[in-house]
Amino acid sequence: MREIIKIEGGHRLSGSVKVSGSKNATVALIPAAVLAGGPVTISGVPAIADVDSLSEILRILNCEVTEKNEHLIIDPSGMKNVPLDADVITKLRASYYFMGALLGKYGYVRMKMPGGCYLGPRPIDLHIKGFEALGASVEYEKGCYTIRAEKLVGTKIFLDISSVGATINIMMAAVYAEGRTIIENAAKEPEIIDVATLLNNMGANIRGAGTNVITIEGVNELQGCYHEIIPDRIEAGTFVIMAAACADEMRINNVIPKHIEALTSKLQEMGADLDIGIDSILVRHKAGMHAVDVTTKPYPGFATDLQQPLTTLLTQVEGISEVRDTIYAERFKHCMELQRMGADIEIFNGKCTIKGPSRLYGDRVTATDLRCGAALVIAGLLAEGWTTIHDVYHIDRGYDNIDGKLQALGGVIRREKID
Ligand code: EPU
Repeated sequence: MREIIKIEGGHRLSGSVKVSGSKNATVALIPAAVLAGGPVTISGVPAIADVDSLSEILRILNCEVTEKNEHLIIDPSGMKNVPLDADVITKLRASYYFMGALLGKYGYVRMKMPGGCYLGPRPIDLHIKGFEALGASVEYEKGCYTIRAEKLVGTKIFLDISSVGATINIMMAAVYAEGRTIIENAAKEPEIIDVATLLNNMGANIRGAGTNVITIEGVNELQGCYHEIIPDRIEAGTFVIMAAACADEMRINNVIPKHIEALTSKLQEMGADLDIGIDSILVRHKAGMHAVDVTTKPYPGFATDLQQPLTTLLTQVEGISEVRDTIYAERFKHCMELQRMGADIEIFNGKCTIKGPSRLYGDRVTATDLRCGAALVIAGLLAEGWTTIHDVYHIDRGYDNIDGKLQALGGVIRREKID
């Protein structure tokens, strides 16, 4: 049965909220855990649908998975490298991390094409190029990849685009490879450092994660370990934007402020009142914020995942803003939904312009992807009357207990089942 979220707008938020563990780190850490010989305990795991899907894939692989509070214990001791052709593979993008992990561990993997949010074309050619450079052969037939290697040998791999997914996947495939692998033009996102930290705790030898050159010296054995996930910078950013849009005063706890500096600087440029602490950000209501231009870039630039929630805030400020997405040129479906609610937005290829301020009105809208959903939740909080958001499964893939967190802040939000 499908679910909808209903939000009554106009209630100003206040109080504090704790950010959960990073979704985009978690979805790579879980597949990375299968590289170990013994149990891996991951702490701070967010309660999101993507974690449920990955746990289901682990069980298909005959791994033991125990969930306790915010801990996930993964025991790959009795693992079987069966073909991954179940429907769950296509529920999310991150199932592709099993390619690197299983190739690294067994030299063989067979799996379906992964799914995930539609943000325009999302090729995985760089992942494949990396596996091939390490000595693997890759076949794609009837929607299924077969990747095999007699042995993987370290080499130099230059990524044409600094892809997060390709960097992590190659790192996982290379941990057991013979000799040294060097990834050049590697992505620098904090989630990559988190995955390298887990792998190093397991016994891998990875240096340079967080810079654009990552060096992996192959090892023969990896053991189980304990790992705590970093806070979710995109969830943190979403709440900071939400607070600037509709809170009297909101404290966002469990944040690494450095991870969202591109956002906080942009908000300060708009005139927002932010008090940035060591691991929290306090946002106070500020009248008279003004328009800004934003261009998304790989980390440490402005995150594409925050472009959509920011657009909603930009509908409320004085002047004309331009948002350009250089990572995903088609990531503007939220603009159509915001238009329906009364926003004055023009969409072009790869960018949109927003004329504000506009009054928003509650309507029936659709979360076409995860961050579109976040943009619509903020719009619903701002709008006059009730907003009904459909396809909320996208939101549940990435936001841990969004209903509960908003209710605690004074938001009026409820969930209903529909046929
Ligand atoms: N790209 C290629 N070829 C490849 C891989 C990527 O051309 O083989 C292109 C992509 O099409 C895109 C750019 O390179 O234009 C960057 O893509 P990247 O590989 O970095 O993205 P990803 O790993 O597929 C992750 C996050 C996304 C986030 C992007 C960019 C996960 C599971 N997903 O995707 O998160 O938008 O990095 O930062 O980590 C989200 O959380 O809502 C989300 C979509």
